Amino acid sequence: MPQQVRGVIAPGKDEPVRVETIVVPDPGPGEAVVKVQACGVCHTDLHYKQGGINDDFPFLLGHEAAGVVESVGAGVTDVAPGDFVILNWRAVCGQCRSCLRGRPQYCFNTHNAKQRMTLLDGTELSPALGIGAFAEKTLVAAGQCTKVDPSVSPAVAGLLGCGVMAGIGAALNTGNVGRGDSVAVIGCGGVGDAAIVGARLAGAAKIVAVDIDDRKLATAKTMGATHTVNSRTEDAVEAVRALTGGFGADVVIEAVGRPETYKQAFYARDLAGTVVLVGVPTPDMKLELPLIDVFGRGGALKSSWYGDCLPSRDFPMLIDLHQQGRIDLAAFVTETIALDEVEKAFARMHEGDVLRSVVAF
Ligand code: APR
Ligand code: ZN
Ligand code: ZN
Repeated sequence: MPQQVRGVIAPGKDEPVRVETIVVPDPGPGEAVVKVQACGVCHTDLHYKQGGINDDFPFLLGHEAAGVVESVGAGVTDVAPGDFVILNWRAVCGQCRSCLRGRPQYCFNTHNAKQRMTLLDGTELSPALGIGAFAEKTLVAAGQCTKVDPSVSPAVAGLLGCGVMAGIGAALNTGNVGRGDSVAVIGCGGVGDAAIVGARLAGAAKIVAVDIDDRKLATAKTMGATHTVNSRTEDAVEAVRALTGGFGADVVIEAVGRPETYKQAFYARDLAGTVVLVGVPTPDMKLELPLIDVFGRGGALKSSWYGDCLPSRDFPMLIDLHQQGRIDLAAFVTETIALDEVEKAFARMHEGDVLRSVVAF
């Protein structure tokens, strides 16, 4: 029987979001219905609301979530009702060229639920990143569910569904930070701070946090930064070089998504260093660099999408590390809020004192 639950809808471009009754169908083949327990508020939800992703309104927002599988459709064997899962927005196909070449992070056939959730009048909803988890229950592809240790708090587990995984993965998976490396992280919001956590986990000897906001730098220190640079008052490139024996960092992670900070990352790295772009630029942004400087420096320029994560590998591992006290994911949960407070959380995002607001059910 299709169920009626409450969910947060973005009705049209730049219109305030609101809670509506939505209809969740029974899971079809390969699908699962998940009772959502927590869902973080991410910038991408705001971009959907602003019409910055596409025009397929109305959206059912929310995509950084954990919950319990309620029911599964035909052919689902990897998860079962009662399993505690983190949702992911890249369920890989296992069959495309990228998957077959052992690079499922680049799968171009990722799948979501085939059926659609609707409003009461039958209007089809577009779930944010194929998830739509600002809702008491949501319909996803079973492959979007990854089982993890159920003793972790849902608010913490859900973080790995997007931003925190993107940051940790930028350091561990994309940047390949190694023992003793020097790392600089430019932009210390939730994603940059998670990159700091990842760098520390990897055994980086120096972790330089760069931001324009002293409050962010103070938090970055608690996350594991060994040095901080306020790039409003100091030259970021000079400061990072000075802190790394004049060389630049082995790995520089850009977690803002702007040309000027990318340029800083480019020049703040060691000649053979790696730049990882995890901040998401807008389509109109252009980067201008002297080609001779690209030529004259070795190393690698990489982008990190979803932290190059493999949910089935990375989610349980990071939850285990958190449960053992070796990383502190709870530090990213600034506040838990109710379903009808998502609009307020969007406003707070801009005030700069929130790493993550998490809707708890
Ligand atoms: N130089 C250094 N830091 C900057 C600059 C700048 N010019 N401009 C902004 N920042 C800092 C902000 O002060 C803030 O601490 O970047 C940080 C951005 O943090 P958030 O707004 O909290 O964003 P976050 O969730 O961390 O995401 C960062 O990664 O995944 C992407 O879409 C996401 O592009 C976004 C980026
Ligand atoms: Zn694939
Ligand atoms: Zn997100």
